[in-house]
Amino acid sequence: MADTKTLGESLRLHGVSRRGFLKFCTATASMMALPPTMVPAIAAALEKAKRPSVIWLSFQECTGCTESLTRSHAPTVENLIFDHISLDYHHTLQVAAGDAAEAAREEAMHENEGEYLLVVDGSIPEGNAGYSTIAGISNLQMLEESAKGAAAIIAVGTCAAFGGLHKAEPNPTGAVAVSDIIKDKPIINVSGCPPIPVVITGVLAHFLTFGTIPELDEYGRPMVFYGQSIHDRCYRRPFYDKGLFAETFDDEGAKKGWCLYKLGCKGPMTYNACATAKWNQGASWPVESGHGCLGCSEPDFWDAGGFYNALSIPTSDVSKLVTVGVAAGVALGAATAGLNHKTKSNAAKNHGTVTVDDLEKTS
Ligand code: SF4
Ligand code: SF4
Ligand code: F3S
Repeated sequence: MADTKTLGESLRLHGVSRRGFLKFCTATASMMALPPTMVPAIAAALEKAKRPSVIWLSFQECTGCTESLTRSHAPTVENLIFDHISLDYHHTLQVAAGDAAEAAREEAMHENEGEYLLVVDGSIPEGNAGYSTIAGISNLQMLEESAKGAAAIIAVGTCAAFGGLHKAEPNPTGAVAVSDIIKDKPIINVSGCPPIPVVITGVLAHFLTFGTIPELDEYGRPMVFYGQSIHDRCYRRPFYDKGLFAETFDDEGAKKGWCLYKLGCKGPMTYNACATAKWNQGASWPVESGHGCLGCSEPDFWDAGGFYNALSIPTSDVSKLVTVGVAAGVALGAATAGLNHKTKSNAAKNHGTVTVDDLEKTS
């Protein structure tokens, strides 16, 4: 049955006090990287908002994206997903199985037509429907059916956003992204392999609160989280600027925490919030653990990344990119072997609204 309670009513029903409610609003602002001054507006929106129904489909994937979601800590996924939205269908987390599970999906679609949020992780095997089916239904058919009545779609993870691992050469299943199939619905790409947990919950929180999708870059990613490159925010950047680079993973430079550019770091070409939001409750992130960024939030990173090959740009040219900005980004895009820079340079041009630093400051 569709839930007719507002979020405010639902929270009170769960015994959440006014103080607890405002705390939740502050956490929600933080998740969305909004400043604390937005808390009253968020509180007003949440008082009126209905608990949205969420249908979560998993296609060709490794469950890493769901694993990531369950590690959210701000707030926990239990708070967000199980108390404040109605998660009506999720292959991995739902209790129901078989016919009962499919009946739950159909009921949610029927009861909440035009209002539910469809979340997808995994790519879709367009080349041969038989590669991946659920309850005898091909991924393609299930996506098309489920997207029809959705208010919006969130493509979680690089597989759903860009095709990911399965789309890498030779792409035996003909894997494609959600946006390659669905053309008539708003789609938010939350890329990353997997995406950062608080970024997934932050995007859900935005829809939950305002019923709208956040501002997106040209790859359909929320600018508030994907607005700046890893390189822009990297704590090793001062070493990069001084020309101090580790040459191997165990040399003196590596031990001193110097820049990992020559060891294949793709931070200059990669847009994500890892350097500030970090992973595992803010414990660390790839570069902090001594490994260069692989570019996992960018399209075609499996084919284009060349994980341990340095970008084919002299570091002096990367410096120019950083200094000159958009124009240099275009030039740099032409000079490198893989990642598509047009969007990133456009994204760089548009970014600069609310930053992940703001998120940290307000949390
Ligand atoms: Fe797994 Fe990465 Fe694809 Fe997520 S994006 S399903 S973590 S391969
Ligand atoms: Fe950090 Fe990589 Fe940029 Fe070096 S190249 S500053 S390690 S993001
Ligand atoms: Fe992915 Fe690079 Fe972050 S590899 S996890 S975008 S540091």
